[in-house]
Amino acid sequence: MFLRIEGLRVKYNDIEVVRGVDLEIGKGECIGLVGESGCGKTTVGLSITRLIPGHKGRISSGRILFEGKNLLVLSPEELRKYRGSRISYVFQEPLSSLNPVFTIHEQLKEVLPKDDDVEGSISEALKSVGLKELIDRKKVYPHELSGGMQQRAMIAMAIVSKPDLLILDEPTTALDVTVQKKILELVMELKKNLGLSILFISHDLRTVFELADGVGVMYAGRIVEQGPAKTLMSRPGHPYTRGLVNSIPSIEHRKERFNAIEGRTPLFSELPEGCKFYPRCKFRIKPCREKEPFLGKFSDGHYSRCIRSKELIAHGTIKGI
Ligand SMILES: Nc1ncnc2c1ncn2[C@@H]1O[C@H](COP(=O)(O)OP(=O)(O)OP(=O)(O)O)[C@@H](O)[C@H]1O
Ligand code: SF4
Ligand SMILES: [Mg+2]
Repeated sequence: MFLRIEGLRVKYNDIEVVRGVDLEIGKGECIGLVGESGCGKTTVGLSITRLIPGHKGRISSGRILFEGKNLLVLSPEELRKYRGSRISYVFQEPLSSLNPVFTIHEQLKEVLPKDDDVEGSISEALKSVGLKELIDRKKVYPHELSGGMQQRAMIAMAIVSKPDLLILDEPTTALDVTVQKKILELVMELKKNLGLSILFISHDLRTVFELADGVGVMYAGRIVEQGPAKTLMSRPGHPYTRGLVNSIPSIEHRKERFNAIEGRTPLFSELPEGCKFYPRCKFRIKPCREKEPFLGKFSDGHYSRCIRSKELIAHGTIKGI
């Protein structure tokens, strides 16, 4: 497997917020990671190259195997060879990642190894993100670009070193819908042309289900369901996924939210006994409180952490509810 996360646990201020995550990404595959705010998606993404802020956060256990090598035990020097060059990130706010005092060209150059054909690589990256007009405009600063162009410049920075894995963390939420769509189309084209593997973290379920090959649904620091996007959309095995799918607004009403899941995500310091979704679950029964269900396998590549998944998958709902 190209990337395999095994038993990842992360703590912030001694409270566990990623509570044993397993996730795999194949070569050239796009895996989406979804779930409500605060469930641990960004923390999983940052853990891959150990970018968790050290004064507060700590990876307490697990392995992150990148082409078989455990990134969690590499020395800082060894890790640097992966970060930025083989594994790169695009974050939500382009301006927070672009440095205002350096030109786009300078920043692209910064990412490349000194012996690379710097100009050639920069031109290629700018061309592939649709910023051909910047190839000869070497003095352009980030603030001179529109939001969409800044996001493209960020993607150019992320791909200029020809990485193998791209981690996109809410890459387009700051942009308007048409620009979002263009940027995501561009990313998918790059995936196809460059054979990139992608971890796509997003709130926008519709987009994730459309673009990703597989999806991991997180709740309270764990994957509660995982499988091919189509399966999760049509026959979710976990009540939480079902709730998320039902809350996807129709295309005509993209801005509105329908049927949002009732209740709030629990605080990590006050997680309920047993199934963590219990207080909000419409399908709960007494045994759900006894112990946290394990991630059971239901078909090829389809896993769900719920004692009633079988009923849900078979009938689309549970009898009497
Ligand atoms: N630097 C930090 N210091 C302390 N706690 C943090 C820090 N970063 C994240 N957390 C906590 O860890 C948990 C997981 O956060 P994370 O950012 O991974 O969630 P997320 O799923 O990416 O949320 P969002 O969708 O809002 O981006 C949250 O409860 C959050 O409060
Ligand atoms: S285990 Fe029970 S409470 Fe948890 S999601 Fe399944 S039905 Fe709901
Ligand atoms: Mg996040």
